Amino acid sequence: MSDQELYPVPAAWAEAAKVNRAQYDAMYRASVTDSDAFWLEQAKRLDWMKAPTAAGDWSFDEGDFRIQWFKDGVLNVAANCLDRHLATRGDQTAIIWEPDDPAAAPKRFTYRELHAEVCRFANVLKAQGVKKGDRVTVYLPMIPEAAFAVLACARIGAIHSVVFGGFSPDALAGRIADCDSKIVITADEGRRGGRRVALKANVDEAAARAPSLEKVIVVKSTGGDITMGARDIWYHEAAAGVSADCPVEPMNAEDPLFILYTSGSTGQPKGVLHTTGGYLLWASFTHDLVFDYRPGNVFWCAADIGWVTGHTYIVYGPLANGATTLMYEGLPNWPDASRIWQVVDRHQVHTVFTAPTALRALMKDGDDFVRRTSRTSLRLLGTVGEPINPEAWRWYHDVVGEGRSPIVDTWWQTETGGALIAPLPGATDLKPGSATLPLPGVQPQLVDENGQVLEGAVSGNLCITASWPGQMRTVWNDHARFFQTYFTTYRGKYFTGDGCRRDEDGYYWITGRVDDVINVSGHRMGTAEVESALVLHPKVAEAAVVGMPHDVKGQGIYAYVTLNAGETASAELNTALKQWVRKEIGPIATPDAIQFAPGLPKTRSGKIMRRILRKIAEGDVSSLGDTSTLADPSVVDDLVTNRVS
Ligand code: WTA
Repeated sequence: MSDQELYPVPAAWAEAAKVNRAQYDAMYRASVTDSDAFWLEQAKRLDWMKAPTAAGDWSFDEGDFRIQWFKDGVLNVAANCLDRHLATRGDQTAIIWEPDDPAAAPKRFTYRELHAEVCRFANVLKAQGVKKGDRVTVYLPMIPEAAFAVLACARIGAIHSVVFGGFSPDALAGRIADCDSKIVITADEGRRGGRRVALKANVDEAAARAPSLEKVIVVKSTGGDITMGARDIWYHEAAAGVSADCPVEPMNAEDPLFILYTSGSTGQPKGVLHTTGGYLLWASFTHDLVFDYRPGNVFWCAADIGWVTGHTYIVYGPLANGATTLMYEGLPNWPDASRIWQVVDRHQVHTVFTAPTALRALMKDGDDFVRRTSRTSLRLLGTVGEPINPEAWRWYHDVVGEGRSPIVDTWWQTETGGALIAPLPGATDLKPGSATLPLPGVQPQLVDENGQVLEGAVSGNLCITASWPGQMRTVWNDHARFFQTYFTTYRGKYFTGDGCRRDEDGYYWITGRVDDVINVSGHRMGTAEVESALVLHPKVAEAAVVGMPHDVKGQGIYAYVTLNAGETASAELNTALKQWVRKEIGPIATPDAIQFAPGLPKTRSGKIMRRILRKIAEGDVSSLGDTSTLADPSVVDDLVTNRVS
């Protein structure tokens, strides 16, 4: 990766920039020298029932650990995303929905219509007894009701927990049980790439393992055949009997807005909790700055609402800013690799925001699929989720954007609420592969293994030293785990889990996770989760999972499996184990390679040496390092010989 390859801000962007380089520098300085004044001023972009009088109140130190923002402020997220726009842009399109099947009709909802839909959904929830603080699990496909549902929760102060529709019944059950949610909102089926996903059937299966679950609200989407039982309620029937008017619940800035489960290095996924004021401000602020949003622009974040990117940049950021946001039900490459660009033309999309993995997949299919579309409406391109290789970056820039559109490479995490390191299109010269510079209020720091602060052009572990409004507040039900996970590796700092290089110009280059998290197609997978799924199989004694380089996915999942005594390895068992994990967690967790191993490399104290396993999976067997401390160094030879390539 060359630090020298520079794409200056295009002239057209520099002239019309909402924030130019001098302004960015000034904002950044103000945000760190007088954080309170800066954020109280920024807070005015939201509509408060009671304006906050103080901004951040936080400490990352153990004795004093707390993170709060705008804590005497009162507001409602749905009022900010809907009600306040009615007078000025009630008839403007809020959501454009593009269906999976290109022959089916798109739908559009104005702010006024969206307001009515959300109120109705909120009243249905209320009629089922949902109150402020209750947890509502949302397991929906990418249909407009997914946006209605989360905004309805926000309106009445219920805490939503969206579970990606690709997760298995077991994964869903775990997430329902962890936050003790009594209600699940789902659909009969989802549609993706012409196929149907049996969502309601998955909920039925999950219910057996989720004792808190009392009611299931079912949206009719495909009209597919499903069984409705005693706890099931058709949404359309319930909605027919309620008013399209629902008052908003006044929420303290620190009241919870949502839980979103995400994978970490250890244990089962944790419920990342975001609160009302700080999160919404961060969503609105970053959407406005990073995407230079202007009235009339059609903004398309091509993520799923099951991930944080969908929360922040399909729903909350754009709607808080009164934007027109596009929701797409389907896949980037179905029916063919020109689909995304056709949708861009159909809806005259101004900004596309997607993951490098999608770009790499499309790039493989050739430029023709792009060139046959016009894309004249496109002005800005974004990426998120994983490091983008410069080759994919250049393809996006030159072929998709025809050199006209800057690329905003946004680095962030479920935990951060929104982008933390990203260019501003009218301010920041770009370098392919670098997320560039921190946004106002974000104070990155690189440290070595011992926590020593590293200055200048250097590589290290990425920490953030000061809180920002969009920071997660806790792990649901486990505040100790929150502190332990993020604030104990390097005392007094938030540790991101990412490795990072800083160049001579102060640009940040994220190199990937340095912990036991694998980034598969921009989705986080904990190695521990895949390992627990594998050892549940009756023939498996032990499993160790690591990441391996993958052309399209960025990283693939490589699993070493030791079978129980008496079991024999076979191609059939290999396939069966992949299917097993797919069923236990979901398709995104399917191992790309499984290697049967008679033994795993362990230290004398029994700790698996993952460093060695990673090297072998990467095919880098010439530099395995010191293996003499292993309990049985000979296992390494077998692993190397039988490596799956
Ligand atoms: C990775 C997604 C490089 C990173 C918003 C992070 C990135 C993890 C980028 C969070 C980027 C995200 N460049 N790496 N622009 N964006 N990542 O929680 O490793 O699903 O820690 O949030 O994705 O994944 P998560």
